[in-house]
Amino acid sequence: MTGTKWLLLSVPFWVILSCLHVQLTNAQMLHPNEVTALNGIKKSLVDPLDHLKNWGSGDPCNKTWTGVICYNTTLRDGYLHVLELQLLKMNLSGTLSPAVGNLTYMNILDVMWNKITGSIPDEVGNITSLKLLLLNGNQLSGSLPDSIGYLPNLDRIQIDQNNISGPIPKSFANLNMTKHFHMNNNSLSGQIPRELSRLPKLVHLLLDNNNLSGDLPEELSEMPSLLIM
Ligand SMILES: *[C@@H]1O[C@H](CO)[C@@H](O)[C@H](O)[C@H]1NC(C)=O
Ligand SMILES: *[C@@H]1O[C@H](CO)[C@@H](O)[C@H](O)[C@H]1NC(C)=O
Ligand SMILES: *[C@@H]1O[C@H](CO)[C@@H](O)[C@H](O)[C@H]1NC(C)=O
Ligand SMILES: *[C@@H]1O[C@H](CO)[C@@H](O)[C@H](O)[C@H]1NC(C)=O
Ligand SMILES: *[C@@H]1O[C@H](CO)[C@@H](O)[C@H](O)[C@H]1NC(C)=O
Ligand SMILES: *[C@@H]1O[C@H](CO)[C@@H](O)[C@H](O)[C@H]1NC(C)=O
Ligand SMILES: *[C@@H]1O[C@H](CO)[C@@H](O)[C@H](O)[C@H]1NC(C)=O
Ligand SMILES: *[C@@H]1O[C@H](CO)[C@@H](O)[C@H](O)[C@H]1NC(C)=O
Ligand SMILES: *[C@@H]1O[C@H](CO)[C@@H](O)[C@H](O)[C@H]1NC(C)=O
Repeated sequence: MTGTKWLLLSVPFWVILSCLHVQLTNAQMLHPNEVTALNGIKKSLVDPLDHLKNWGSGDPCNKTWTGVICYNTTLRDGYLHVLELQLLKMNLSGTLSPAVGNLTYMNILDVMWNKITGSIPDEVGNITSLKLLLLNGNQLSGSLPDSIGYLPNLDRIQIDQNNISGPIPKSFANLNMTKHFHMNNNSLSGQIPRELSRLPKLVHLLLDNNNLSGDLPEELSEMPSLLIM
């Protein structure tokens, strides 16, 4: 047997070759877990104007899936990841799937000005890279998940003009990177947590037209960055 033949027939050679192949084909692909998540998101939405008709074929990061914006290079795991989901003003109804929580590298979740119903999934709290959570102008109900209060990079939460009920979670006092709380025109109830006063970066605190009760905590006057309440 010549050396070449021996190499071609040997198992390790094919193992190395197929590893190389996986590496090369991964180079421009969205992580499979995120492809599954996107399909789950589409499945729970109702899309009468067929804005998402091109979702489902090809790679979502190949600029063909409307509203899906990916990182432009692969991360250390060798895959692309979703950076933004931009689904504003698309006449979407239906619900927001918990699968959204599996887009764990996402910075912007934007579904503003649709007709989405149901509640905000707890799983949104798994998107630790999230900076902008833009859900305003829908028909969301249910209460605010505690888990959102632990998002370490959240810059802005806009849930205004929905029908969200229940209290403002005390956990929101952990959102020390957040500049904007837009929560007006919902059905939030209970007291404004005095713990919110320790938020160092909060600039806008919009809570009008809700069903809040109790005292306005005195401590809110000491918020260092607040401009509009
Ligand atoms: C991306 O789309 C282009 C053409 O639109 C195609 O040639 C290419 O093979 C696609 N790449 C992947 C990874 O799907
Ligand atoms: C890749 O993304 C970065 C950060 O978003 C951006 O600054 C850069 O211009 C992008 N590169 C290309 C080739 O699009
Ligand atoms: C889409 O939504 C806009 C704003 O809500 C509305 O004016 C328009 O009639 C809707 N279009 C369709 C075809 O449902
Ligand atoms: C998120 O991904 C994990 C791992 O693939 C999967 O087990 C889980 O069902 C997914 N969650 C949702 C809500 O789809
Ligand atoms: C995602 O969020 C859900 C609900 O908050 C939680 O039960 C689950 O453990 C989280 N998964 C991960 C991987 O963090
Ligand atoms: C909003 O929620 C409140 C309390 O859950 C409920 O009483 C009310 O009917 C809802 N309003 C709309 C427009 O859905
Ligand atoms: C926010 O809180 C975290 C955890 O307590 C801390 O590590 C971080 O330095 C804080 N950031 C700011 C801007 O206060
Ligand atoms: C907010 O709620 C108030 C009081 O119910 C209402 O007058 C106003 O029109 C609402 N704003 C929007 C933009 O829905
Ligand atoms: C507002 O809260 C009161 C109790 O504090 C309750 O009786 C009422 O039903 C609530 N209204 C709405 C629209 O949620």
